Amino acid sequence: MLVHVALTGATGFLGLRLLRRLLDTHPSVTVLAHAGSGDALHRITRFFELTGSPETFTARLPGRLRVVETDLAQPRLGLSGRTFQKLADGLGAIWHSAGSINLEGNLPELRRTNVEGTRHVLELAAAGRRKPLVRHVSTAFVAGARRDGVAYEDELDDVCGFENAYERSKYEAELLIHAWSREHRRPVLVLRPSILVTDLPPHPELPSHPLQVIERILRDARCAADPGGPGSRDSDESASSGFPGPRDRGPRSSGPAGRSLIRTVGHPHGRLNLLQVEHAAEVMVRLAGLAPSGGVDTYHVVHDRDVPVPTVVDLLERLVPLSIDLVATKPDTPSALEALLDFYPGMTAYLAHRRRFDDTRVRTRLGPSAASAPVGLDYLWSGLAPRGRALVLSPGTPPAVLPSVRYA
Ligand SMILES: NC(=O)c1ccc[n+]([C@@H]2O[C@H](COP(=O)([O-])OP(=O)(O)OC[C@H]3O[C@@H](n4cnc5c(N)ncnc54)[C@H](OP(=O)(O)O)[C@@H]3O)[C@@H](O)[C@H]2O)c1
Repeated sequence: MLVHVALTGATGFLGLRLLRRLLDTHPSVTVLAHAGSGDALHRITRFFELTGSPETFTARLPGRLRVVETDLAQPRLGLSGRTFQKLADGLGAIWHSAGSINLEGNLPELRRTNVEGTRHVLELAAAGRRKPLVRHVSTAFVAGARRDGVAYEDELDDVCGFENAYERSKYEAELLIHAWSREHRRPVLVLRPSILVTDLPPHPELPSHPLQVIERILRDARCAADPGGPGSRDSDESASSGFPGPRDRGPRSSGPAGRSLIRTVGHPHGRLNLLQVEHAAEVMVRLAGLAPSGGVDTYHVVHDRDVPVPTVVDLLERLVPLSIDLVATKPDTPSALEALLDFYPGMTAYLAHRRRFDDTRVRTRLGPSAASAPVGLDYLWSGLAPRGRALVLSPGTPPAVLPSVRYA
């Protein structure tokens, strides 16, 4: 039976793709939009227009989307008691994708959105007379600061601590989910994606993705440390995608001419799990269609092949006029640029990660169709470089993905 669905975070990078999938099967969706953050219907419509949806589809959006302005951080999502109850009673399922993904945010702020926000969404689910099903978007990074080994889907602990307050806030939100499920004897689906990416070129009207944010931070730091140096998106040097690619990543004192060198802690055998956002949304919606166990069902929505950290470093070097050296420990005497980037420890920590995410449950339940196409350098380039800048690979560029790993 088709139930009426509400979605938080529908204007976000992932939420827009979830919305696209939900509209494939649902005649209408209630969008729990972020109050005061801009016209949600317009932003959603622009996304569909920019990503090639037919005009007949976008023209029907105002009739298919019911937008309710909410604030996650407020009790009852900022709604009056009556509106909150009416909303709750009309729902058969709630997708909770809204959140703050600020890797450098402070814990009280992140808790307000990610933990209290989840509490308020759970209160909405508890209030609904049809007992709406909860689908909660978490992150694979609740695995925290354990940098090696394998993170499993049924693990949830804080033994190794966290790389940043974002991870902790998402972990605390999952703890709430478990407590709520036990207390109310209600099933909850917890979806833990890895780092989501797209090959859609950056556009001012579309939400950014994490790699785009990192690229911007590097570019801004580069400009702040050396305002006269190359760094603008239009500079010839920055536009040269033929910058020497793979190389020995031993320590150096300076980069090639015109490039500032940064030494950042990272592991040459580090690996990052990057997954196409469209694929993640498809897998999530398919998982929601499975019969729930009755308790909390947690799934790693991840790629079966990791991307080597040096490939990500190569990619960033092609985009920003910087040379990045991965070093074992923080430099004793950081340069001005390195000192600036030291303000982003929650982000740079990932360059030292060698851990893998086990997704046996997803593969067992969905089969081989859960696997995604490779996330290669060309795919990542397309989602980060300004339109028209081609990627030129130098001879000897290593494969952009690590061989697939089977965990069973
Ligand atoms: N992106 C990734 O790589 C990634 C990876 C793993 C997990 N996740 C998880 O996936 C979920 C979605 O991430 P995303 O990439 O789509 O993030 P995003 O692009 O930053 O979108 C966040 C969404 O949350 C909404 N929001 C933020 N604060 C709110 C508030 N106080 N009240 C109501 N709505 C609020 C935003 O609305 P406005 O835009 O109007 O402010 C936006 O729709 C998050 O829970 C995140 O932890 C993301």
